[in-house]
Amino acid sequence: MTKPLQAVRGMHDVLPEQTPYWQQLEAEVRQLVRAYGYAEIRLPIVESTTLFKRSIGAATDIVEKEMYTFADRNEDSLTLRPEGTAGCLRAVLQHGLAHNQVQRLWYQGPMFRHERPQQGRYRQFQQIGVEAYGLPGPAIDAELILLSARLWERLGIQGLTLQLNTLGTPAERVRYREQLVAYLIQHVGQLDADSQRRLQTNPLRILDSKNPALAKLIAAAPVLTDYLAADSQAHFAQLRAMLDAAGVAYVINPRLVRGLDYYTRTVFEWTTDLLGAQGTVCAGGRYDGLARQLGGRDIPGIGFALGAERVLAVQAALGKKTRSSGLHACVLMLGTEAEIAGLVLSEQLHTALPQLRLQTLVGSVKSQFRQADRSGASLALILGSDELVAGTVTIKYLRQDRAQVTITQDQLADFMRDALSHDANDTRAI
Ligand code: HAM
Repeated sequence: MTKPLQAVRGMHDVLPEQTPYWQQLEAEVRQLVRAYGYAEIRLPIVESTTLFKRSIGAATDIVEKEMYTFADRNEDSLTLRPEGTAGCLRAVLQHGLAHNQVQRLWYQGPMFRHERPQQGRYRQFQQIGVEAYGLPGPAIDAELILLSARLWERLGIQGLTLQLNTLGTPAERVRYREQLVAYLIQHVGQLDADSQRRLQTNPLRILDSKNPALAKLIAAAPVLTDYLAADSQAHFAQLRAMLDAAGVAYVINPRLVRGLDYYTRTVFEWTTDLLGAQGTVCAGGRYDGLARQLGGRDIPGIGFALGAERVLAVQAALGKKTRSSGLHACVLMLGTEAEIAGLVLSEQLHTALPQLRLQTLVGSVKSQFRQADRSGASLALILGSDELVAGTVTIKYLRQDRAQVTITQDQLADFMRDALSHDANDTRAI
């Protein structure tokens, strides 16, 4: 027999046993961003290729080698979005959402990068992103960082490190870049092939090199923060003061440069050592020049995106549990007549108790009990021939050592309402 077709390499199904963890993460995010005044925006998965070239930067790894780019039937060059910031700002500009007003937005959805797949790095992955527009001062930088810190707390994730840096303005970076290139040219013989190429295209990215042979050279390189003008220094100092006052710990990492070119001033990453090489679970920063670059007016912007697979992997590594999603019962329908009565009874319960999880079963008695057990249900509502004649239903406790009870079908809704309110807040391990 030939093997059935498989998912595309680097792209994964989220199986039913995993979806509760996704739903819990999404629910926590939804509640949190709402509390901070962020509104959801839903964006297309496909954008024009130009958008990403202009925003992420033509000389970045993402644009150079990772985009899923194709010509559509009109020969327009389109790209599956590799990230959400560019599309979000495109929409903000297109619809005038930040015209004389502040906008706080969030989005979620799949992103696509043709990277080498490995643990924590996929070709389709899920980001949740948060972006704010129209606020040039450091208070919003702090707000976004505090929001992300609160999310970790809500998710029960401890031990992440907040890495913080400032990249200054484009003008400051030009001055710095000259000094950096001059330094690197002096040591060009020590650079690997990739860094030699980057020396021409994107020298700042050399600072991000993972090649241990370059570590010493990079450690001794000029530091961008030494080239910042007073305004950028003050912005960074004020942000640090705010984080200190709010009690959020951070590590200043002057080598943090990020893999996208649009950043100005603040950049940050939340990292963990629980996930091996792919340790960044969430990252972002300010991008004040991007609106202008995309043909709009000057609109300051800042945001971050978390990688949902990585956040869930950290939760799993920490042994986090998910709350059970409420009382779950199965209706065991023993016989053809019971199938009719069972469906009617189930429909009545769905009407009376919309929050109840209720599933009807068919098959042999043995098979129905096996199905009920596997489903995780805590109650079996049994309708056999005796119950049909007597107008009753027998309730069997599947997870508790309690005697079964028989009640009339009229009493069932009240019985289940009572069971729902007593439903122990049980948890399941990830
Ligand atoms: P990014 O650092 O490219 O930034 O991605 C953000 C997060 O997405 C990463 O920290 C990581 O958790 C996750 N991620 C990235 N690539 C992969 C992958 N191949 N597999 C699994 N997870 C991945 C951005 O995308 C910016 N748009 C963030 C931002 C928003 N900056 C400002 N606003």
